[in-house]
Amino acid sequence: MKNDRIIIFDTTLRDGEQCPGAAMTPREKLEIARQLARLGVDIIEAGFPVASEGDFASVQEIAREVKGPVICGLARCVPKDIEAAGHAIKPAGKKGRIHVFLGTSKLHREFKLGKAQNEIIRLAIDGVKRAKAFVKDVEFSPEDASRTELDFLVKVVEAAIEAGATTINMPDTTGYATPAEYERMFRHIIANARGAKNVIFSAHCHDDLGLAVANALAAVQGGARQVEGTINGIGERAGNTALEEFVMAVRTRNDMFNGLHTGIKHRELVKTSRLVSRMCSFPVPRNKAIVGANAFAHGSGIHQDGILKKRETYEIMDPRDVGWGLTELPLTKHSGRAAVASRLKHLGFKMTDDDVAAIFARFKEIGDKKKFVYDDDLSALVEGQIAEVPETWSLDYISVSSGSQTVPTATVRLKHSAKKDGELQQDASIGDGPVDAALKAMDRIMKTRGKLMDYQLRAVSEGKDALGEVTVKVDFGDGDLVTGKAASTDVIEGSARAYLNAANRFLGHSQPRAPKGTKP
Ligand code: KIV
Ligand code: ZN
Repeated sequence: MKNDRIIIFDTTLRDGEQCPGAAMTPREKLEIARQLARLGVDIIEAGFPVASEGDFASVQEIAREVKGPVICGLARCVPKDIEAAGHAIKPAGKKGRIHVFLGTSKLHREFKLGKAQNEIIRLAIDGVKRAKAFVKDVEFSPEDASRTELDFLVKVVEAAIEAGATTINMPDTTGYATPAEYERMFRHIIANARGAKNVIFSAHCHDDLGLAVANALAAVQGGARQVEGTINGIGERAGNTALEEFVMAVRTRNDMFNGLHTGIKHRELVKTSRLVSRMCSFPVPRNKAIVGANAFAHGSGIHQDGILKKRETYEIMDPRDVGWGLTELPLTKHSGRAAVASRLKHLGFKMTDDDVAAIFARFKEIGDKKKFVYDDDLSALVEGQIAEVPETWSLDYISVSSGSQTVPTATVRLKHSAKKDGELQQDASIGDGPVDAALKAMDRIMKTRGKLMDYQLRAVSEGKDALGEVTVKVDFGDGDLVTGKAASTDVIEGSARAYLNAANRFLGHSQPRAPKGTKP
């Protein structure tokens, strides 16, 4: 049988979420998982269930709710990890996978695990067999495969196959491999490991040297038929293989890939990228291939002229093929609730009646301030609605004065959810700028001492009246970065709301936090 289908394994919700500051709430993860299913990924690695109760519940919910892709849970070759993964993916039934991993390189064996080669083989066998007791579909990863001695790697892979693994993933855990070397490794293992013909080989690359996509493509040339990656390439350190880039490279340069193909619905790529960017508060660089705002923007007159004469002179892909230019007509303040609800459905959001009512109320406020409400504006409102942050504090009023000859001063009034009858607390502060003054005034009321570690302001849509989306990352003193987001037509108010959102996450601990040291 011709083996020309590349299986796409998405790990945005697991490796992607390991990106510092990219933590998502279970509801945000569920929305992403639903969109990944629409995108047509084959497997969703939904999380690392043993890491925390939140991770477990989130994997379980995705396994229950998301139909289509296989749902996978990650586990070390440790009984409690495998049991957690097995229970979490149970609702997916036959469409559940457990992914077990174990360090195999000399560095991992000697310094991380303190185990000899034969002990590693025994642990791998035990891990795979234990996972097999839960599901048929078991993936095994010799972690740091690309820095593992080839003859030992052959032995580990043979043992895992013999124990029942159905997919063997050979990760370039540290992003160290070069394409030629990574391809060679796949060819060698596939040619030499007993049982290799009966399993799928998988590539999992990190981008420390900017080679993650190139290495994944090389692995496919070497025989891999599963590729792991994330949307927008988010992930541990420099990130993972950007799936949108990998998928479009195989499609656009199919002459180099011998008819290989994926099942990805590429017109969903831009939409998926934007959703992930918004949910995990990671802006997509403008010049990012495929999904960046400039990916199909032609600056020079010569290029523009060429494009007008024949698009292919300077464009190797049709932007519509990846989902650019497919947006609907914007809504206006005259649009009714049914129109907003139908647009939310069209955008792929599964909202309850209460969600729609809350979003519609915010839509009306915004519609009064700006002429058109675009799909991106609406998505920003959805994000605010589903962030699941208990509102310990809410903003009642903010007034700021600043100017070239004025000391920036802010007066803020907040409401505490536990205070009866909407009792309000007010304070004022000066600051280095209007935002600083506003945040200091809020700190005085909430008795917090947040340190602003990152601040990003982005226009959600076009025009001078565009919604400004503010994303902050704040350290409230425990060393963790807490993300806060808000959108408003007034950037100072948006900044205050984003800070309040972060403070509420911190005070309500609704930000998923893994116990330190348990993430792979
Ligand atoms: O990079 C890596 O090695 C991993 C494993 C858990 C597969 O993410
Ligand atoms: Zn990884």
